[in-house]
Amino acid sequence: MTAQTLASARILLIIGGGVAAYKSLDLIRRLRERGATVRVAMTAAAQRFVTPLSAEALSGQPVRADLFAPTEQSGMGHIEFSREADLLVVAPATADLIAHMALGLADDLATTTLLATDKRALVAPAMNLRMWLHPATQRNVATLRGDGVLFVGPDDGEMACGEYGPGRMAEPLAIVAAVERALQAPTVLPLPPGVGLPRGGALAGRRVVVTSGPTYEPIDPVRFLGNRSSGRQGHAIAEAARAAGAETILVSGPTALADPPGVRVVRVETAREMRDATIAALPADVFVAAAAVADWRVEDAAEEKIKKRGDGAPILRLVENPDILAEVSARRGDRPALVVGFAAETQALIDNARAKLKRKGCDLIVANRVAIGEGTFGGAENKVTIVAADGIEEWPRMGKTEVARALVALVARKLTGAP
Ligand code: C5P
Repeated sequence: MTAQTLASARILLIIGGGVAAYKSLDLIRRLRERGATVRVAMTAAAQRFVTPLSAEALSGQPVRADLFAPTEQSGMGHIEFSREADLLVVAPATADLIAHMALGLADDLATTTLLATDKRALVAPAMNLRMWLHPATQRNVATLRGDGVLFVGPDDGEMACGEYGPGRMAEPLAIVAAVERALQAPTVLPLPPGVGLPRGGALAGRRVVVTSGPTYEPIDPVRFLGNRSSGRQGHAIAEAARAAGAETILVSGPTALADPPGVRVVRVETAREMRDATIAALPADVFVAAAAVADWRVEDAAEEKIKKRGDGAPILRLVENPDILAEVSARRGDRPALVVGFAAETQALIDNARAKLKRKGCDLIVANRVAIGEGTFGGAENKVTIVAADGIEEWPRMGKTEVARALVALVARKLTGAP
């Protein structure tokens, strides 16, 4: 699975009630300097040490603290809040907060978020050395390590209470380094297969892999070749597959969209990363290639930013990217029973879609027009034609969510051989 970088990471920082809370304000700044998005939740005790206003000003996002605030009960609830992060960071983590986590207690927003999340947590303990060394705390830490929770610190040193020993919170830069390390591995905590899926859906017991969004092909560390795909159609298909009971994996290029709930999302940037993540997600019953994969990449992406030169513009040499759809269609042994491709065309839609069906060896092509003015890229609606070897189906203009549901229903019928 592809590692995430801090530059695109969404960090949910939970600030506990300790003197070290002031260092967490610096931590917010350091994480944001490196491009991360930081959202903050504070315990009641944390607010005795630093104010939500400071955290809000530094993070540029509203700070959450009250489990019973109206926003928590509406669409932006704490469950969604925790799911929209890539990693949870608890700093400072008090002995009490660690004990709550180890026991799975959830009596405020911070602890409820920690229990409801499907993402890994990185914990930076900060407490008096005797509290840290107490067998109860050590037991709790061991339990949490066993659950996959990561730790950074505590450091040895002089403490606010005047004693010397282990218990000081790790310095912000050490926490940043630990966050970077944590992002190297998958941060989503997998549920046992099948758990949490709706029962009795049209795709119950099936596994579906969907690609979505654009790919970014680097020119140098700052610039890339990309396209206008928003990922809305692909994400909607993953959501619809999940709602129909399928264990769903979404391999997504860079998009601004939230992860569909209950879907395992693997984020990638380049076509080659998308290919590797897709192959790693097999075997599957269904593969839907909705991503707008760049056909070419720059042969030798520069390691350093290309400078303006006096002797004219640089010439970029392009090479072909792997064709993920064709490769999955051609697989032996683990070829999905149904492979669905997309054809985004500006002209000769049906002829091109038919040609693509053959060339790519897939079972269905969803053809849509993407000419400027169609509003398909980034829009909420889509007008598609389904092209199969045995005929075509013209669908009316619909919302992308409806297109996704109709496609999932069609896929389910095709899988079972129903008419
Ligand atoms: O780019 P093209 O029009 O050939 O894309 C058609 C289909 O092939 C789409 O479903 C797209 O997701 C898929 N594709 C792919 N890998 C590529 C190019 C396209 O999977 N390198």
